Amino acid sequence: MVIKTEGLTKWYGNKLGCRDICLSVSEGQVFGFLGQNGAGKSTLVKMLVGLIFPTSGRAEILGRPLGDREVKKRIGFLPETFRYQEWLTGYQLMKFHASLYKMPGSAGRERIEEVLQLVRLKGHEHYKIRTYSKGMQQRLGLAAALLPDPDLLILDEPTSAMDPLGRKEVRDLILKLKSAGKTIFLNSHLLSEVEVVCDHVALIKKGRIIAGGSIGELKAGKIEVEMIIGNYNDVINRSLAEKGYKPWRENERVMVTVDSRDKIPVIAEIVINNGGSLYRLTPLHNSLENLFLELMQEGGENDADHCRDDLQGSA
Ligand SMILES: Nc1ncnc2c1ncn2[C@@H]1O[C@H](COP(=O)(O)OP(=O)(O)OP(=O)(O)O)[C@@H](O)[C@H]1O
Ligand SMILES: [Mg+2]
Repeated sequence: MVIKTEGLTKWYGNKLGCRDICLSVSEGQVFGFLGQNGAGKSTLVKMLVGLIFPTSGRAEILGRPLGDREVKKRIGFLPETFRYQEWLTGYQLMKFHASLYKMPGSAGRERIEEVLQLVRLKGHEHYKIRTYSKGMQQRLGLAAALLPDPDLLILDEPTSAMDPLGRKEVRDLILKLKSAGKTIFLNSHLLSEVEVVCDHVALIKKGRIIAGGSIGELKAGKIEVEMIIGNYNDVINRSLAEKGYKPWRENERVMVTVDSRDKIPVIAEIVINNGGSLYRLTPLHNSLENLFLELMQEGGENDADHCRDDLQGSA
């Protein structure tokens, strides 16, 4: 396991940061940690990288307890509020970070070139950071996080300052790192981004995890079915409702939600047997965004004090 937390909890005085966080991230996963503003995402990653200390609970990273110095060398971290020494040039900042990671001169120089290429800052590195745009500064932070060629990359909202093209470049970079076997922990509220790059997610609300699993598993529970029905009438409507499918209409479309593929022909049968002309039936897989909104709107508070196995990122 690359990350394993058990009951990790942080109180800032009497203000809750996050509570009873139990999750596992295994090697090679891209794990998305999703939640609204103030949910506790940054609190968790700050504990993982040792910037703040947990109030209670425990965690292991790469098989060692939090704070292990050898493990820290194998972690790359992009913080959410990235502010770098603006009087330095990008290149000087990279050299400084390389020295923090104790990378020897020539290897350090080579790696700096590589990461500057990766984040597309090559050509800008000899300008002072104060002349960089926000997006460029975030790219520089990403370069610093990539510098040690980390086994675990922790990114706290890595594209918050980037334009759409920059976001796509970072998404592609994450996918490239994933195919090289790196493990990535990504805090985000950009659901479409998470959906594209992550294989596992956990949703945090008011400091507690309320759902988690592989994206496939999370979405498997719900399939929206879109139908175009001629002669749609009350009988069809009632028959669907009686069988537990609650239809709703959007212009000429009739929508129902089913919990498995097997239910799709059942719906078609109900429509046809009750005099409807079924012109079209299209199963639409629920987007992560719909799921997220549903879960955020539900009560969803988990009062259990113990770890739940179903929140594990691993299968
Ligand atoms: N240093 C602090 N002192 C007191 N409370 C804090 C501190 N840092 C965070 N909090 C509180 O902890 C809770 C979780 O904050 P956190 O920054 O972890 O959320 P987040 O999910 O990262 O939000 P965002 O999406 O806005 O970055 C919030 O209620 C926040 O006000
Ligand atoms: Mg945050």
